[in-house]
Amino acid sequence: MCSYKLRKAEPRDVPDILRLVKELAKFEDMEDQVALTEKELLEDGFGETPFYHCILAEIQGEPSSDGPKVIGFAMYYFTYDPWVGKQLHLEDFFVMEEYRGNGIGSEILKQLSDLAMKTHCRSMQFIVAENNEPSINFYKRRGAEDLSQEEGWRLYRFDEDSLNKMAAPTEE
Ligand code: COA
Repeated sequence: MCSYKLRKAEPRDVPDILRLVKELAKFEDMEDQVALTEKELLEDGFGETPFYHCILAEIQGEPSSDGPKVIGFAMYYFTYDPWVGKQLHLEDFFVMEEYRGNGIGSEILKQLSDLAMKTHCRSMQFIVAENNEPSINFYKRRGAEDLSQEEGWRLYRFDEDSLNKMAAPTEE
């Protein structure tokens, strides 16, 4: 069992946030898709209008090895559903492999659930890769429903090219 504390991320944590974002992307075999820089993370999470928030899990005392002290995180933001209102969106959720199974992930979800209740959110939603069975089971054991299966929703995206085309001025 390791001693850790959860805390809200501060600007000085940006290098650790980017490191964990990349570790999760690597876990999902998509490391090459991480284009974000520390500069953008700093501007986007800690400016006047934060686009995201993070809860960090930090090892207390000296880590057993030379490893980092920030060993897990959840990145989230608030969103809105016109049918039910405020929602919390859990974007990234990751605990380094050697620290898993210590209850850190559950404690992060507890804090996010508290926050959702306090801010009158009606639900907490997230996207999981369909081959990530351990996490799907982890969520299901805590009551999560699979909306793709039960309600038939599919995730779509306009990439930057498509946005540019739609945004370009139409010729007279
Ligand atoms: N690794 C993973 N899970 C383990 C484990 C281990 N070595 N040993 C035990 N477990 C079990 C725990 O008993 C627990 O079971 P429960 O659901 O019956 O309580 C569960 O797996 C882990 O719970 P907990 O210790 O609270 O969470 P965690 O700190 O391991 O974090 C994740 C959970 C999902 C954040 C973590 O597994 C992770 O980072 N996974 C890889 C990234 C990922 O899939 N993220 C989610 C993307 S949507």
